[in-house]
Amino acid sequence: MLNHLLDIKSLDAGYIEKIVHLVQSFKDGALVADLSHKAVCLLFCENSTRTKLSFEMAAKNLGMKVLNFECSTSSFSKGESLATTVDNLAAMGVNALVMRDRTNGIQAELASKNPKLCVINAGDGNHSHPTQALLDYYTMLEKMGTVEGKKITIVGDIAHSRVARSNIELLSKFGADIHICAPSYFSIEDERVTTHSNLVTAIENADVVMCLRIQRERLENDFSLPVEDYIKGYQVTSKKLKEYAKENVLLMHPGPVNPGYEMSEELFNSPKAKTILEQVTNGVYVRMAILYLLLGKGEE
Ligand code: CP
Repeated sequence: MLNHLLDIKSLDAGYIEKIVHLVQSFKDGALVADLSHKAVCLLFCENSTRTKLSFEMAAKNLGMKVLNFECSTSSFSKGESLATTVDNLAAMGVNALVMRDRTNGIQAELASKNPKLCVINAGDGNHSHPTQALLDYYTMLEKMGTVEGKKITIVGDIAHSRVARSNIELLSKFGADIHICAPSYFSIEDERVTTHSNLVTAIENADVVMCLRIQRERLENDFSLPVEDYIKGYQVTSKKLKEYAKENVLLMHPGPVNPGYEMSEELFNSPKAKTILEQVTNGVYVRMAILYLLLGKGEE
């Protein structure tokens, strides 16, 4: 049993399958849980729409008390540290902290200092975004039954992406054939994946194409992106999917999508893109399962 959810690396395949089973039970309505005696604080020092609000939705679906911490109006401006802030939240009776921050590993550091508080990583820098990978995996299972042997291609700004890293971590536990595609300035080295700089070979016969946006907020100040070349070489379009990928290829994106960049506007507005909102729906059930598993623990 885990007290915290910090990354995918710490989860074994059996635990992930347990999460998938819980997600299915919540989605089917077969499991109803009452965590009204628990309180969760959402502390997002980086912007978010999907992760923050779906955690709020998930917590409210479980009857939990939800506190929204606003970084801009908090006592951070009076010099209070993050560590002291978290001590204060725990002292108020907060049971779980869902946290996003630009610093890699900050949630793990806080978790080690606050063993009684359940810390859930909602994204740290370019390191990890475990609930996103879990909802992506669940969506793939829902559509394909398994990821084993499936060609799953992640295209875009891999280097700055915690989503790519968490997906690689998770999908490699289940035998997926993982490919990444990016220009050298957005690529990474990882022995578990096949690396491409050419979009055609990357998406050829792909079962899944996952697009990633350019993480402009993480680019070095002096980096000048060759936008037109990037779009020409790496933008995913309906035509390219039709020509090279499998006929029923699953198009995914963690959001937010920047249509006209990583994905053409026409593809974004096509029926193929409907899975992107299905990912969002599944995100609520995944986050219910995580809160239930970490806080409910045999009380139900
Ligand atoms: N996928 C994702 O993390 O989206 P948000 O940044 O809107 O939470």
